[in-house]
Amino acid sequence: MGNMTQFPDHSKEAPDAERLKAYSWPDDPTLVPEWIYTDEYIAELEQQRIFQGHTWNYCGLEVEVPEPGSYIRSYLGSMPIIVTRDEEGEIHAFENRCAHRGAEFCKTYRGKTETFICPYHQWTYGLDGALISVPFRRGVKGKGGMPKDFDMEANSLRRLNVTTRNGAIFVSSQDDMEPFEDYLGPMMVEQFDTVFDGRPLKLLGVHRNILEGNWKLYQENLKDTYHATLLHTYLTTFGLFVASNETFVMTDDTGRHSTTCNRRPEGRPDADETTAEIGSFHSAMQLADPSVLNYVKESDSQWTSNAMTVWPNLVLIRQTNIFSARQIVPMGPNKFMLIWCSFGYADDDPEMLEHRLKQNNIFGPGGFIGIDDNEVIKFVADGAQRGAGRDGVIPLGRDDEPSDTVITDRALRGMYSWYRKEMGL
Ligand SMILES: [Fe+2]
Repeated sequence: MGNMTQFPDHSKEAPDAERLKAYSWPDDPTLVPEWIYTDEYIAELEQQRIFQGHTWNYCGLEVEVPEPGSYIRSYLGSMPIIVTRDEEGEIHAFENRCAHRGAEFCKTYRGKTETFICPYHQWTYGLDGALISVPFRRGVKGKGGMPKDFDMEANSLRRLNVTTRNGAIFVSSQDDMEPFEDYLGPMMVEQFDTVFDGRPLKLLGVHRNILEGNWKLYQENLKDTYHATLLHTYLTTFGLFVASNETFVMTDDTGRHSTTCNRRPEGRPDADETTAEIGSFHSAMQLADPSVLNYVKESDSQWTSNAMTVWPNLVLIRQTNIFSARQIVPMGPNKFMLIWCSFGYADDDPEMLEHRLKQNNIFGPGGFIGIDDNEVIKFVADGAQRGAGRDGVIPLGRDDEPSDTVITDRALRGMYSWYRKEMGL
């Protein structure tokens, strides 16, 4: 069987060795070279070797395409794609690029349709991406038109392989992908299922925002548990995430995925020697409506929050009763988009729904935590863009066992050890 998806597999070619000579990775796992955040060629290579390589890329939730004919615009890496549900209920994904002249034809974020028509020359595609009609195929009055042997199927949209787990949709441009469960590994599957447990989901809202910085800085941000205990006033002051909480930082065997589990104690943290070291801790700060922090236990998990990164582009958050999937969309070396999808369960009662909506103010692009991260990511990007070259330092903690402290960089080291393999660096 040939390549069903019609996408080339650049990940099996050796990268351009001559070109890569210009880049040397420091011989120390605790150092990260700065050019991975700024270099155009590296960004291009990431598209070929990571996003269009052997990865399962998150692209949306099944509840976003609830009915036959529903579709959303999404991305595989930087590449625009469309995700649909066909008349039989099956989910498809294909490139948002007309097979004719290459136009990105679908410009609506989400909707319902029977066909997709490219505005340029009205080439028309079905919900599975197949080319179904071409205007003036036979020409006009016997003149012009398509060649007799024009192959409709070969001129369909380029289709992606699709897999789902409990309502989350992932795509790959490669045909020889392992099952998603093997890609995640058993420890990550268990954590993934604390949010996606098989219950039907309810979509609460979608935000998009664009950040200045390299997309990997966002993966880093979630793997960097150290910062969460220091930067975020809201997390530290109200006890949602404090260094002294019971925690667990796990990575899969490859190092590419990670999960930070955290259990928040009842009430607010006392000001003690741990909080004394935290500049963002403000014991006098009060909430006008403390119920925003209420935790309604809704799974068997011993953890009250769970921040998961699925390589290469998903951040999955469970923080008290907030569920959020954030899709990272790289847009060149110094820009990326985040698509934030907030959701609950279809069987949430009105009270729970109200609670989730209220609690979602903590996160989101303008939430009490997201704005801190957006800002420091910009600071790091500015440093990388404008500073005199200097490697980043990720020395905290140890790598040889799952870690019960958040004062560790082990998840970052895991990601970069995998990154180097995938990139051939
Ligand atoms: Fe953060």
